[in-house]
Amino acid sequence: MSENENILDKFKFNQETTEVDTTKKVKVGIIGTGWIAEAHAGVLKRCPDVEIVALADIVPGKAEAFAARKKLPEGIRFYSSDRELVDNEPDLDAVCVCTYNRQHAPCTIYALDHGLNVLLEKPMCVTLEEAVEICRAEKRSGKILSIGFQPRCDENMKMVKKIVQSGELGQVYYIQTGGGRRKGIPTPFGTSFIEDETAGIGALADIGCYSLDMVLNAIGYPKPVTVSGYTSNFFGTKPETYPNHPEYAEKFGVDDFGAGFIRLENGVILDFRIAWDMHLDTPGDTIIMGTKGSMRIPSTECWNGSIGGPLKIYHDVAGEPVVTEIPMKHNEVDNFENKMRSFIDAVKYGGEAPVPSSEILYNQAIIDGIVRSAKEGKEVTIEIPEI
Ligand SMILES: NC(=O)c1ccc[n+]([C@@H]2O[C@H](COP(=O)([O-])OP(=O)(O)OC[C@H]3O[C@@H](n4cnc5c(N)ncnc54)[C@H](O)[C@@H]3O)[C@@H](O)[C@H]2O)c1
Repeated sequence: MSENENILDKFKFNQETTEVDTTKKVKVGIIGTGWIAEAHAGVLKRCPDVEIVALADIVPGKAEAFAARKKLPEGIRFYSSDRELVDNEPDLDAVCVCTYNRQHAPCTIYALDHGLNVLLEKPMCVTLEEAVEICRAEKRSGKILSIGFQPRCDENMKMVKKIVQSGELGQVYYIQTGGGRRKGIPTPFGTSFIEDETAGIGALADIGCYSLDMVLNAIGYPKPVTVSGYTSNFFGTKPETYPNHPEYAEKFGVDDFGAGFIRLENGVILDFRIAWDMHLDTPGDTIIMGTKGSMRIPSTECWNGSIGGPLKIYHDVAGEPVVTEIPMKHNEVDNFENKMRSFIDAVKYGGEAPVPSSEILYNQAIIDGIVRSAKEGKEVTIEIPEI
């Protein structure tokens, strides 16, 4: 199944409500009422300690139609931009930034600068420069900023990290990750993922950020140092890619394939490739190679949920090479719901951001480095300014 087909089904609420302190309600606004905002509203609506008080969308009537479709309570207020919402809602605690990528940085920075906590959808933004400005805004605001990587909540993804951190693989020295879809340029609700002025980057950021996060999080997010990158758009620019909308080909302004060879500060090599469309089932499983053992993580079209099958560890036992299969774990609570709940709890109780921007800054730096290197046609150095 592609991300387009199953994404909203995956976000169905499936948790029995446990004890939640409802004496303080967290007041939330949603900025951008498109596809993913549906999942945000769906979860927030069911949190007994959350009140969705306002919605904003720059398309006239879209927020109102969204509220009606999602059966949001009467009295909710509507705005025609993120700024209008932030300026007119002094009692808000937090916003969910659910706009397309190009609007991630301006909306997040404005909200943080006006004292709001922010749950920002992935990818963090489009450029490294924007990511740095977001981190600086977070720092001067003292508020919580979490980036919307729900796979962090997945039990199998957690197992990947647990295995690496346990030392079972020894010293990690090489990682291959990425993946993608044979046919899967995301245009289910229009062209916001494929136009430069809305998306800014294609497969690289949209699904690439997930596989980068999976492995970088597992090894503790070392700083990237250099990258040699490649991007292309052979499929997105062909009218036959969109049988019902051949005109989309002319609008396509991003990458549909990207690859990078990245050196990390701790000496680990990261070999990465990601596709929205290709003549191949998968460009390969994710592998993490270490001095005591290596791990294979079976590929999946998009690492936005769980992994593609049981993890396998290749290691020696009593001098003999053996393979240990790790049984798949079941998630008691939907990953998306967990991501929202952990953000709300951090806002409510003043905790740490569940997915810190200081880590995702490096994810964005790699993506930015690939784009820059591809343009320049040579390896580039990644320099991250002081936050
Ligand atoms: N976490 C996930 O699993 C997941 C899944 C899908 C999409 N996403 C991410 O969510 C983001 C949005 O994706 P989508 O599919 O919902 O896009 P979309 O185009 O359907 O919706 C974005 C909405 O934001 C509105 N908007 C843009 N700028 C605005 C502004 N300044 N103020 C108010 N509204 C504004 C647009 O009019 C549009 O309605 C993307 O960055 C995408 O990568 C995450």
